[in-house]
Amino acid sequence: VVQRTFVMIKPDGVKRGLIGEIISRFEKRGLKIVSLKMVKMSRNTAEKLYEEHKGKSFFDELVNYVTSGPVVCMVIEGDDVVQVIRRMIGNTDPKEAPPGTIRGDYALSKSENVIHASDSIEKAQLEMSLFFDKSDL
Ligand code: CMP
Repeated sequence: VVQRTFVMIKPDGVKRGLIGEIISRFEKRGLKIVSLKMVKMSRNTAEKLYEEHKGKSFFDELVNYVTSGPVVCMVIEGDDVVQVIRRMIGNTDPKEAPPGTIRGDYALSKSENVIHASDSIEKAQLEMSLFFDKSDL
């Protein structure tokens, strides 16, 4: 089933010069980049994006980190793209992420883990709407 998902290269990924490398992996996999933008996220948007983690011990640290520098947001389309991209990205804890995955190749820290992708179609819709207008898509 053709789906769309939301992907975001986090501030550490941008600072470390991994934008091209990461986008290239998605393109080479045969996925379609539908829309793409670099933004400095507001705290308000960050709190909405990570609403489900509100109240957790790492919430403030997480919001500080994702607002610490620009991020690159994308909408990506492809067959079963939600699951395909989560497998390409690897586990949230990069120490558990297999080599060959983005986190398995480029990250070690559970908080600064280079990239985010939606974990369901419903979340993808919500997260896309925080960064993109309907007319962008
Ligand atoms: P992400 O896939 O964007 O979804 C939630 C984010 O919270 C996650 O990646 C990590 O960046 C962060 N996170 C999850 N667990 C922890 C943790 N134990 N400590 C710090 N940050 C975390």
